[in-house]
Amino acid sequence: MDNIIEVRNLSKQYKELKAIDDLSFEVHKGEILGLLGPNGSGKSTTINCILSLLNFSKGSIKIFNKEMKPTAYDIKAKLGVVFQDISVFEELTVYENIDYFCGLYIKDKNKRKQYINDAIELVGLEEFKKFRPKQLSGGLLRRLNIACGIAHKPELIFLDEPTVAVDPQSRNNILDGIKKLRDNGATIVYTTHYMEEVEIICDRVIILDKGKVLATGTTDELKELASIEEKVTVEINNLEEKYIEQIRKLEDVHEVKYNGNILLVTYKKGKNNLLELMDYLKRENIKYNKIYSERPTLNDVFLELTGKELRD
Ligand SMILES: Nc1ncnc2c1ncn2[C@@H]1O[C@H](COP(=O)(O)OP(=O)(O)OP(=O)(O)O)[C@@H](O)[C@H]1O
Ligand SMILES: [Mg+2]
Repeated sequence: MDNIIEVRNLSKQYKELKAIDDLSFEVHKGEILGLLGPNGSGKSTTINCILSLLNFSKGSIKIFNKEMKPTAYDIKAKLGVVFQDISVFEELTVYENIDYFCGLYIKDKNKRKQYINDAIELVGLEEFKKFRPKQLSGGLLRRLNIACGIAHKPELIFLDEPTVAVDPQSRNNILDGIKKLRDNGATIVYTTHYMEEVEIICDRVIILDKGKVLATGTTDELKELASIEEKVTVEINNLEEKYIEQIRKLEDVHEVKYNGNILLVTYKKGKNNLLELMDYLKRENIKYNKIYSERPTLNDVFLELTGKELRD
């Protein structure tokens, strides 16, 4: 497997705070690698160290098999970066903004025109070419920010939380665009604290917490780390304690919680649980409203590994 990035024993300290603590990982050619972690887990710091924008206390970073350093201009020419904070020119239109950033890399006018239009199409800004940033909604502005970072068709792209504060439709649009970049051959590092996004687009995921790698794998591999295989949720009013005790003793039940009018039953194995619970409720003549079953999410895995939720 070709490693496009190799991070070895990276540590970054801000005074007393270990923002990154002995971090090692690789990014493979052609994949979307997700860095998933809560606020402050070190996602942006990791990206900024890889880009040589921050110096670090310990460790080494290779990109395209070469040591990355502030003067590695040959490497930098092949990178695309979309920062967490939106950075576009207020004075320029959508088209002119993308033209500016693309022009830093692509000098040929006709080629650049083609690249700009490809980027505009990728993020779905065709109708807004002449708009200035102030006239764009939050979601459209995010899309412009992305287009500016990727228009020059870089081999390796970093996207730091590109969908924060974006409505669901814009988000899907952005995620589709990012998959297209991967399908066209780019390697992508994508940071987020939304586990749903990671499940939709990432080929592999690194779960970060307090600057450390908690777990690495595909989303399916990570979910296998959870000690539960299924969660069943039931809406029931005034369920008596004796029934809760009986449900705890049903086959393969891991844990039972009853809060408000919501009964949550988690199972160690993921087979026939919903039907068996419905049978039990019927036998005991217990009335319920909604009942549904879910697979464990990455949040469940995070919860087990750290004892806290992925989201604040
Ligand atoms: N310039 C700085 N000076 C001091 N501490 C910093 C600085 N930048 C980041 N930190 C701290 O380093 C830790 C990691 O921050 P970082 O921004 O990398 O997290 P993040 O995972 O990107 O979070 P978010 O999801 O909020 O973007 C945090 O505890 C943060 O407060
Ligand atoms: Mg960040």
